[in-house]
Amino acid sequence: MNVKAPTAVPQDQIDRQLDYIERVAALSRDFAQKNGHRPRAYTQTFGCQQNEADTERLAGMLDEMGYEKVDRPETADVLLYNTCAVRAHAEDRALGNIGALAHLKKERPDITIGLCGCMVQQDHIPDKIRRSYPQVNLLFGTHALWRFPELLYRRLTGEKRVFDTSGTGEIAEGLPVRREKGPRAWLSIMYGCNNFCTYCIVPYVRGRERSRHAADIEGELRELVALGYKDITLLGQNVNSYGKDLPEGIDFSELLERLNRVEGDFLLRFMTSHPKDASKKLFDTMAACNKVAKQLHLPFQSGSDAILKRMNRGYTAAHYRELIAYARAKMPEITLSSDIIVGFPGETEDDFGQTLALVQDIGFDMLYTFLYSKRSGTPAASYADDTPQEEKKARFARLLQAQDQCVWPRQQAYDGKTLRVLVDGVSKDPAYPFTARTEGGLLVCCAGPSLQIGGFAVVKIEKPTLRCLFAREV
Ligand code: SAH
Ligand code: SF4
Ligand code: F3S
Repeated sequence: MNVKAPTAVPQDQIDRQLDYIERVAALSRDFAQKNGHRPRAYTQTFGCQQNEADTERLAGMLDEMGYEKVDRPETADVLLYNTCAVRAHAEDRALGNIGALAHLKKERPDITIGLCGCMVQQDHIPDKIRRSYPQVNLLFGTHALWRFPELLYRRLTGEKRVFDTSGTGEIAEGLPVRREKGPRAWLSIMYGCNNFCTYCIVPYVRGRERSRHAADIEGELRELVALGYKDITLLGQNVNSYGKDLPEGIDFSELLERLNRVEGDFLLRFMTSHPKDASKKLFDTMAACNKVAKQLHLPFQSGSDAILKRMNRGYTAAHYRELIAYARAKMPEITLSSDIIVGFPGETEDDFGQTLALVQDIGFDMLYTFLYSKRSGTPAASYADDTPQEEKKARFARLLQAQDQCVWPRQQAYDGKTLRVLVDGVSKDPAYPFTARTEGGLLVCCAGPSLQIGGFAVVKIEKPTLRCLFAREV
């Protein structure tokens, strides 16, 4: 097999960043001496789990550089906004936040306002920020994330504005990370996407698919398990094509098997799967691996073959149904979720009807539904789109209603069932003071004398509702 291994950031460049971490840490010590407290950092994440995982890397670097994490932007010395570009709404929110910081910057001109992530990686954004958002001091794209210590150092030592959207997505191993508290953790297994669905900006802002080496992934999983994490989600835009770019000849199913052999009491999940690459082998592997949660997020986007074709998705609705039927035959208890786009250019009432039918026939436990949002630079941005926005919104509402009707009997079927859950927080209901998730990812509110956050528990469902299963420890 003639595949070229994904390019790694050379060790000397990683060392260089570790050196910059030291240099910024020295500046932080000076700051603390002058001000009586450590410098403070605020981070905010827009977008998907990939971005959350990236923010954890930035937070880890900030920790090592001597920053104290704060929850309010007004008190921070460094403010970092990790942005998303998948829909216009995500960009508007990020830009709205940045815009509102103009007065804070006026009051405290020494603070550093940073913008990073997917939105920034689009060609037109750096110029727009340069011209219209003078309060932004630091701007770096998804491919420059690992150079954050160096960029921050340059800013802190006198450069007014440091902009860097260069790079092609080399994989950087060995940088620090600070994960969110709780029993759950993200574990990136690959970056980027090769699929170029015609509506989607992700391949343009995240680059081509690059898989991490299986040994690096397994090493990180072992660390997570040793730290006590109990529910670990493997992340990639299309995990089913994991390994295609690796010389070691391993596919996603084989990776799952390998990770399933790691000792410890934990659950593995993964997202996102793509119907064109999800295989029967994957479902066989899921069924056979005791640590792999029986949960599948398999976005179908549209139930109409004509729309799927124009979306460049590479499968038909019939193929999707076949996959689900096979997965359910192998794992009858599996929970299913999907992403759907309503109002793709040219979507007719008939096309939409096929989406509704698929939702009703399959019966998903969860749906993530989106109104189509035009992204400049994607092929679909130039497709004729004559459906009025009002009509799209009406379809959207009909879809939500259909989904609720499907979920209700599914939730009711849990009544009286005994399940293992992972307790993960406190609820607002004093009668059921803890929140938890089932292996399939469903929300549970529960009560019981020995429940504790971060632990597994066995509970009996005593009151299912549309959005939550209420349960008591057995
Ligand atoms: N890689 C994943 C998810 C990527 S983005 C996958 O292929 O499934 C998450 C979801 O956002 C997509 O599944 C899609 O439903 C939605 N999405 C992406 N681009 C969009 C756009 N331009 N308008 C509306 N929704 C979009
Ligand atoms: Fe976007 Fe399609 Fe890639 Fe998912 S598979 S990230 S929807 S291009
Ligand atoms: Fe995720 Fe948004 Fe980027 S969905 S990959 S953060 S464009």
